[in-house]
Amino acid sequence: MTTLQEFLKKSGCEADLAKLIGEVIPSAVREIAEAIKSQKGELAGSQNIYGEKQLKLDVQSNQIAMEAFKESGLVNLMASEELDEEVEAKKSAPFTVVFDPLDGSSLVDVNLAVGSIFGIYKAGSPIGKTGDDQLAACFAVYGPRTTFVITCKKGTHEFRLESDDQFNLTNENLHVGEDSKHFAPGNLRAAAECEDYLKLTNEWIKAGLTLRYSGGMVPDLNHILLKGDGIFTYPAYSKTPEGKLRLLFECAPMALLMENAGGSALDGEGARILDKRITELHKRTPIFIGSKNTVKRAVEALRKSKIMVFSALP
Ligand code: F6P
Repeated sequence: MTTLQEFLKKSGCEADLAKLIGEVIPSAVREIAEAIKSQKGELAGSQNIYGEKQLKLDVQSNQIAMEAFKESGLVNLMASEELDEEVEAKKSAPFTVVFDPLDGSSLVDVNLAVGSIFGIYKAGSPIGKTGDDQLAACFAVYGPRTTFVITCKKGTHEFRLESDDQFNLTNENLHVGEDSKHFAPGNLRAAAECEDYLKLTNEWIKAGLTLRYSGGMVPDLNHILLKGDGIFTYPAYSKTPEGKLRLLFECAPMALLMENAGGSALDGEGARILDKRITELHKRTPIFIGSKNTVKRAVEALRKSKIMVFSALP
């Protein structure tokens, strides 16, 4: 068995970055996994910047991650989906970490899988940078098992949390093929106002693709990475004209993990998610991510339609 730390050392990951991905983030992930087991999914009575009701667990997961980053001495700035602004952890530290501490928190009370997402940049604000500037990205899936998927630019790899609290390598160099046998059509509400989206999902049904949609971006994309094919779509529509999912905290880290496994991630205009400039922390984007050919086909089918025009509005 290869542990996460042994793997990072062997793969030549720079020491501080290896410590962040191999020790600091995993310790936060272990704690969040425990919090999910013991908490009931009650509301915190607060809202985040997007007006979404926060669970006590959202707040707690955010605190766990922030504490871990502060204590590590490796993190300069922290930006989280649950915080309005960036927060400084240590002035002279080498990295900035952006994160969604508990993605899919509306699934906690029904015991479906949820996740945490992390993107790592060189120290300084992520504003003005692109997803391509990430040094690494990773996510954790809290399901029947806790797993951890990482990329440090070369390849995308899966680890599993074992009973001795170690993360061990379970899948090296995940590979996503060009065509899909599975589809995860997010925001299907958009199909009520965009016939092209309805047609596209019908096209997939007629082609015999299997539906695999959980309502959580992390487990849905984890499915694509682990099964080796699939597409996840989350287009804009009239109520969310820029899409729902966040470029910095969700889409850019997931796009890096997907591209490094051979897949692709485009927005509604066909632009690479990783090329999109982060002009504000909480910027949103439509996303089409997974098997290359299926992603290309989806964007072609929808580019000129109403939902894509919404997404192009300034
Ligand atoms: O960003 C949060 C999130 O829960 C994603 O994990 C998921 O894909 C999406 O929202 C689902 O949103 P909705 O149920 O509103 O379509």
